[in-house]
Amino acid sequence: MSHQSSLRVVQWATGGVGRAAIQGVLAHPELELAGAWVHSPDKAGRDVGELAGLEPVGVHAVTSLAEVVALGADCVVYAPLVPDEEEVAALLRSGANVVTPVGWIFPDPARTAALREACLEGGSTLHGTGIHPGGITERFPLMVSAVTGSVTHVRAEEFSDIRTYDAPDVVRHVMGFGGTVEEAEASPMARLLGGGFKASVRMVVAELGFRAEEVRTTAENAVATAPIDSPIGVIEPGRVAGRRFRWDALVDGEPVVTAAVNWLMGEEHLAGTDGRPWTFGADGERFEIEVTGDPTVRLTLHGLQPESVAAGLVRNPGIVSTANHCVSAIPYVCAAEPGIRTYLDLPLIAGRAAPHLAR
Ligand SMILES: NC(=O)c1ccc[n+]([C@@H]2O[C@H](COP(=O)([O-])OP(=O)(O)OC[C@H]3O[C@@H](n4cnc5c(N)ncnc54)[C@H](OP(=O)(O)O)[C@@H]3O)[C@@H](O)[C@H]2O)c1
Repeated sequence: MSHQSSLRVVQWATGGVGRAAIQGVLAHPELELAGAWVHSPDKAGRDVGELAGLEPVGVHAVTSLAEVVALGADCVVYAPLVPDEEEVAALLRSGANVVTPVGWIFPDPARTAALREACLEGGSTLHGTGIHPGGITERFPLMVSAVTGSVTHVRAEEFSDIRTYDAPDVVRHVMGFGGTVEEAEASPMARLLGGGFKASVRMVVAELGFRAEEVRTTAENAVATAPIDSPIGVIEPGRVAGRRFRWDALVDGEPVVTAAVNWLMGEEHLAGTDGRPWTFGADGERFEIEVTGDPTVRLTLHGLQPESVAAGLVRNPGIVSTANHCVSAIPYVCAAEPGIRTYLDLPLIAGRAAPHLAR
């Protein structure tokens, strides 16, 4: 694409993803930071660069939707704990494009009429992305599938140590750690979590043309067998310290597209309901993509998990990548036709050269 200059970007929420997105916007040659929305009152009015651990940049954090709209940004990177559809619709109606890691990766048209209308009213675009879901679950498997044929199965699977994810609210409430198995299984947030992964599975099903209709969810839990230190405090014996989910699209009862996660609070003192220990296996932490076909192609991604728990708590590469996937999409989303645009609609999204190497 021809590179446009100075698209004005507002960061919505300054948690791990939000702070990394601010850093990404400041390093991106076509983007300019216009502001940030913050949730905690103690962040209100603070310099946005400082909130992201950088030098002051001269723009200050705001706390209301009206203040964000008044900034008249080209794009908002929307990364709060949980999405609020009304809020997103208001941003879109105001003319701001929205890029987000909290949903809308492959939305059901029957459930998104209001958001589409908001896009048309504002002449704006909504794009859902991330890494998992988003990117590794569908965009990269689709890319790999192009070099194989007669595909019988597509799998994207994460193996991560969640002790490195310093987002206690997400780890506890969205991912379901630290409570009883019953609480984890009953949590309404499991539906929110599964919604994103199921959408990714449906995107691969649709583009590859499988005659799959349902997506089956399978969940397994591991509990601590001794106290485990974690970002949500000590997980006591008997409490949830490992989660495995599989979302399988089925044809004739057999999986054809699978998204799966193996989230473990380390590899010690964890046992499944059958009493067996849970580990990552010999290959360690990773993301795997496998397209079974002619030929079968496997891609393993390393580098998205930190070198150590301590390093991950300072800056987690998976969170930085999630933010970067949002930031990289901004120029393409701003140039897109109004509406909800997925990876299937947008051109190839790429990052940019480091500032000191750029032309
Ligand atoms: N798709 C993917 O691959 C992917 C990957 C990672 C994360 N995510 C999602 O991205 C979102 C942000 O993740 P994160 O790692 O940045 O989490 P985080 O570090 O916990 O940050 C959460 C942010 O939400 C704000 N917040 C807390 N309670 C809120 C509320 N009631 N209403 C509105 N905002 C609230 C927090 O504000 P304060 O900072 O002011 O407290 C914080 O800025 C989460 O929804 C997470 O599930 C997606």
